[in-house]
Amino acid sequence: MTKQLALTFTVLLILGILFLYKSGIDQFPMVQAAADIQLGKRLYVQNCAGCHGERGDGKGPEVSRLKTKPRDFTTGIYKFRSTPSGSLPNDKDIFRTISQGVRTTSMLAQLHLSEGERWTLTGYLKTLSERFKTEKPSDPIPIPAEPSTISDLVTLGKRLYADAGCAQCHGSEGKGDGPSAKDLKDDWGNPISPPDLTLRPFKSGSGPEDLYRTLSTGLNGTPMPSYAAAFSANERWALVLYILSIATHDRPKGMMGLVGEEVEGMRIDMRAAMAGMMGGKGMMGRGGGMMDRNMKDMMKDQGK
Ligand code: HEC
Ligand code: HEC
Repeated sequence: MTKQLALTFTVLLILGILFLYKSGIDQFPMVQAAADIQLGKRLYVQNCAGCHGERGDGKGPEVSRLKTKPRDFTTGIYKFRSTPSGSLPNDKDIFRTISQGVRTTSMLAQLHLSEGERWTLTGYLKTLSERFKTEKPSDPIPIPAEPSTISDLVTLGKRLYADAGCAQCHGSEGKGDGPSAKDLKDDWGNPISPPDLTLRPFKSGSGPEDLYRTLSTGLNGTPMPSYAAAFSANERWALVLYILSIATHDRPKGMMGLVGEEVEGMRIDMRAAMAGMMGGKGMMGRGGGMMDRNMKDMMKDQGK
């Protein structure tokens, strides 16, 4: 009798251990994901929330200083993608923007963060919109190799630019002064202007492939349409080569070679770093007191 009991007990013990072991293995990815979200949240509050808002709604305390408003991540609408118009971005798209920033805006390349931290943030941003739970990003639009014979294509590009209505917004010479330029709004209701295409750098990269990607995907949430359906790959390359042929001037450079609102982004980031060093809670914990003013004076002196 005792032998039988001992045997039953042993069998139950073994089953119990097996069960715990198995459920432990199943749970591991979930535990890992939860830890990533925790870390992502901490990185986000320290580095991003001052502009993008603690809940990701684009309403951080710094917003009033900025002309180009920080993205509202809750809608899942992303401008800079490799995926077709209307689609969610894929992870690489989000990672690319975090790593490269958005030139001419306060969104600086976040290279003070490690590659691992930037991937963790990529995952975290996706938790801020319900869309990522129910939708998958479409496949990227392929970017074929840049054509090698250029001169004829520039002429074709110039003609397409005039015919396709680009001039309506970007102006007949690409200077951003087309007849529709003044009254444009983005999907969040903020005024938006078509950029002067004769000036470098461009927002999501100034290389030929960056421009090809922008023309193919369009910029979701803005009046800039996708031309993937309207133009063949060759025609899109022609437009890219034409734009590059007129983009011959640099935007005026401010302190440290920064352009446009990048200067404002640098000020905001430095104040956040200072607040962090002084024991504040990073971006959200900043009071905007004396230290704030000191920083501003310091940066002004540097700009001279
Ligand atoms: C100083 C303000 C500021 C800070 C800090 C900041 N951003 Fe931004 N961010 C912006 C602005 C402004 C834009 C919009 C640029 C545009 O629309 O052209 C933007 C755009 C983006 C986009 C592009 C989304 C799209 O539409 O494709 C991503 C992704 C992003 N930010 C992630 C981050 C992350 C992650 C952090 C923190 C590590 C961060 N940002 C910190 C201001 C900021
Ligand atoms: C209805 C107005 C409109 C039309 C038509 C239009 N665009 Fe745009 N385009 C915009 C706006 C607005 C932006 C700026 C979006 C932003 O800054 O977020 C833009 C952005 C761009 C950019 C990206 C610049 C950067 O800094 O990355 C390029 C390149 C561009 N347009 C080229 C073209 C070409 C070529 C055509 C015609 C084939 C065209 N656009 C047609 C409104 C328009």
